[in-house]
Amino acid sequence: MSQCVSAHRLSTGSYTDQPKGPFRAGERTRLSATVVVGTQWGDEGKGKLTDLLARDMDLVVRYQGGHNAGHTIVTGGDTFALQLIPSGVLYPHITPIIGNGVVVDPGVLLSEVDTLSAKGVDCSRLRVSGNAHLIMPYHHELDRMTERYLGKNRLGTTKRGIGPAYADKATRVGLRVQDLLDPKIFRQKLDVALKEKNAVLAKVYNRLPLDGDAIADCYLGEYAPRIEPMVDDAVALVHQALGAGKNILLEGAQATFLDLDQGTYPYVTSSNPCAGGACTGAGIGPRELGRIIGIAKAYVTRVGSGPFPTELDGDLADLLVDRGHEYGTNTGRRRRTGWFDTVMLRQAVRVNSLSEVALTKLDVLDTLDAVKVCVAYEADGVRYDFMPYHQSVLHRVTPVYEELPGWRTDLSGATDLSDLPTRARDYVAFLASQGGVPIQLVGVGPGREQLVDIGIRD
Ligand code: IMP
Repeated sequence: MSQCVSAHRLSTGSYTDQPKGPFRAGERTRLSATVVVGTQWGDEGKGKLTDLLARDMDLVVRYQGGHNAGHTIVTGGDTFALQLIPSGVLYPHITPIIGNGVVVDPGVLLSEVDTLSAKGVDCSRLRVSGNAHLIMPYHHELDRMTERYLGKNRLGTTKRGIGPAYADKATRVGLRVQDLLDPKIFRQKLDVALKEKNAVLAKVYNRLPLDGDAIADCYLGEYAPRIEPMVDDAVALVHQALGAGKNILLEGAQATFLDLDQGTYPYVTSSNPCAGGACTGAGIGPRELGRIIGIAKAYVTRVGSGPFPTELDGDLADLLVDRGHEYGTNTGRRRRTGWFDTVMLRQAVRVNSLSEVALTKLDVLDTLDAVKVCVAYEADGVRYDFMPYHQSVLHRVTPVYEELPGWRTDLSGATDLSDLPTRARDYVAFLASQGGVPIQLVGVGPGREQLVDIGIRD
């Protein structure tokens, strides 16, 4: 099957063939929104799938996170590393939207716009929710300081100010994108926030206070005039599109086990990447969600601290890092690596209501004689098929493995199910049956075209 067919199949499926038209109370006439969510600890290759699906979408909405994300898309010999702007920006027919659930560093947003524009990408369609919160200079500073003070207990954050910005949102002292449009309100809110932040920076962390005038000059003088034309009512845009029967892609950053509520707390990010977060972060109700596609890497990686039951070290870890280029797109940090974990996949299916999975980077395992898969955990004589909720149990579980033979074949040129050797297919089928979820697509390389449609059922 060709790559065009696979794109078509993934991107049309259960919603475009639903009847369109006005929405009558109590009746489901269409399912227009598709969610893409990571099923591990991030870096599963969401950007590539989002990019593939985007071809048949009208709107692509980022619903949480900020520039802690890093989506890499390789196309036409060009590599695009996006942090904030939804991947759909690369398609002229798409309206890319930064939803209310995102935290926006305006300086980063504008430099991303400039970089894309220099490569010939038109960013004029980009819309930013006026309700999205702003990352301010003190958020960066506080992120760095809290990590430093946590010492060996640090979370390993990206130090982008994400946690402090979401904390201010929750304590209701955050500044929002819409405040950039009203200098008086912006200044009032900044002064209130800065009074407290500077006291903390000076008295707790022994740092110099930040200058309110300099921040206001930069945010209001430099950023606001350029961002103003992008600011919009993102919820209204999403619902106009839904009403017109258009297709919407809700693009998550980070992943299920970095979710503030469902992840391996406290080693998580400060937002909700899980499918439920797509609803709150884009202003869309759960009944509008159609396909919820989980992205899983053929092995597992993690950056930053926190439990990782199937973690590898030594030569095998080096091999996965080397073959998979497992260094953060954003921070350059070497990623921790481990065997595929079906306990995580099962849990991800549960908490996201996944309808299907795309498995990425299968080719990274090409040279192995044998491949292990974690099918359960054990701790204190108890077997766990799902993630134990208790943090101390999770820290001491040992994985129960099943070993499968490796395929020792270069998969990078595969375009069809029949190009995959039986052992590679068996590996994928085993993951699908253990996870209890169909695996529709398999990635065999970084290129847009290196995706094989396989449709293996659980
Ligand atoms: P924060 O999101 O910068 O607060 O970092 C919290 C945790 O999430 C750290 O362990 C980070 O390494 C991790 N994290 C944040 N964004 C990403 C991502 O895009 N990929 C993988 N890990 C991430």
